[in-house]
Amino acid sequence: MSTTAIFEPLRLGALTVKNRVLRSSVAGRFDNYDGSGTEVRMNWDVKFARGGVGAIISSNAPIHERGHIVPGYAYLDSDDKLPFWRELGRRVREHDCAYIVQLVHAGRERIIPGLRYEEGVGATDDPEPLNGFECRRMSVDEIGAVVESFAQAARRAREAELDGVELAGANGMLFTQFLSPAINTREDEYGGPLEQRARFSLEVVRAIRREVGRDFCLGFKISVEEATRELLPWLARGNSVDDVLRVCRWLEEAGVDYLHVSAGTGFPHPRNPAGRFPASEVVKTYDALLSSGRHTFRNFLVFRTWPLSAAFRWWWERPQGKLGIEGINLPASRAVKQAVSIPVLCTGGFQTASVIESAIERGDCDGVTIARPLVANPDLVRFFEQGLDRAPRPCTYCNKCLFRFVEDPLGCYEESRYESREEMVREILSVYDVDARRGAAVA
Ligand SMILES: Cc1cc2nc3c(=O)[nH]c(=O)nc-3n(C[C@H](O)[C@H](O)[C@H](O)COP(=O)(O)O)c2cc1C
Ligand code: SF4
Repeated sequence: MSTTAIFEPLRLGALTVKNRVLRSSVAGRFDNYDGSGTEVRMNWDVKFARGGVGAIISSNAPIHERGHIVPGYAYLDSDDKLPFWRELGRRVREHDCAYIVQLVHAGRERIIPGLRYEEGVGATDDPEPLNGFECRRMSVDEIGAVVESFAQAARRAREAELDGVELAGANGMLFTQFLSPAINTREDEYGGPLEQRARFSLEVVRAIRREVGRDFCLGFKISVEEATRELLPWLARGNSVDDVLRVCRWLEEAGVDYLHVSAGTGFPHPRNPAGRFPASEVVKTYDALLSSGRHTFRNFLVFRTWPLSAAFRWWWERPQGKLGIEGINLPASRAVKQAVSIPVLCTGGFQTASVIESAIERGDCDGVTIARPLVANPDLVRFFEQGLDRAPRPCTYCNKCLFRFVEDPLGCYEESRYESREEMVREILSVYDVDARRGAAVA
């Protein structure tokens, strides 16, 4: 099997990445509640750098405390956070791996609102439809402040000598909330026709370019197949693929260096990360969804009672039946490739060298990003280097990691992949194996 295409360098604007496999955003709640970073997070990211990926895209880094999805992720909201990010980037680069930080404002798409802001702010007054957390639409002045916060966070990433920033524009985060007609019900200049719904994203891109210049890598993760009704059929229709392709062209014109193709107008979603719906894990750890927000009783019934839980599980897993999991977003990625001339990354299920190789050779994407299969096998790229097509114990897409990370450390929870439960626990906890500064804020 040839793996030539995988090991070709990839240019993303001013940044050159050594190969075509990037780690996609994935991390647990490894940082401190106040948004300062920890040694645990450094351990986590360095593990993948050591495993041979060309670049790491950090898990979402909130640009403002109000924009977090869950507490316990390092923020990039103030200059005092710079030393942590600088050190993290330095440690990752020791392994010839680039570090791109993903900037997020979650808007209404929150899993745990946290201490300070019980009410979310987003593009709309409508609560998030799965968990039902309350939300109110931002005023135009508030939107301006968020645009500026993104620009300042990007400036900090550059000052911390990181290799680039990616905007968390997919999966229901604030950018999606403005872009999608399934969510954006505004009647002002940020709502209505596509041009106006795209205004917020384009303003952020231009504001970042103003702060960091043209020679700093800037990516945008975007949901191309919004598939809004695939999870909750009573919701309004989202953007068509053609609409999203128009947005991709505008993003390119505004100065984005690469697009990162994902799917869905919420997180999680049957298409992202595609895989099983492990109901027994969900009831153990998704307490916030079960017990808060507007849909407490509905979620209790759906997640806890048979046959509703079985029916929901079937409903969740149904799109994969026809689309498959590995490369689920490749048709969308191909469409984006044909619409723009900047590089296109694709996320979704990748863990087989020959599949990745063919996708790149066919021109469906320029590179792939991987999350869960790297959680299962951080050395996956080393296996590819040795000529293996797949890791001996691949990721099963069971999604137990996804539903555990809210309350337990992120790691692979698929017991069948280990010799014993003890081995699994040891492996999951190994990320805490740090020196005397264990758990302390690095600032
Ligand atoms: C535990 C977990 C956390 C994630 N966090 C983020 C995130 O912060 N930002 C983001 O854009 N995607 C996030 N994702 C989505 C992944 O980056 C990726 O796009 C998705 O899992 C599909 O890729 P995979 O099949 O290789 O896992 C997360 C996924 C998982 C499982
Ligand atoms: S728990 Fe392990 S096998 Fe299951 S999806 Fe996560 S990484 Fe893959």
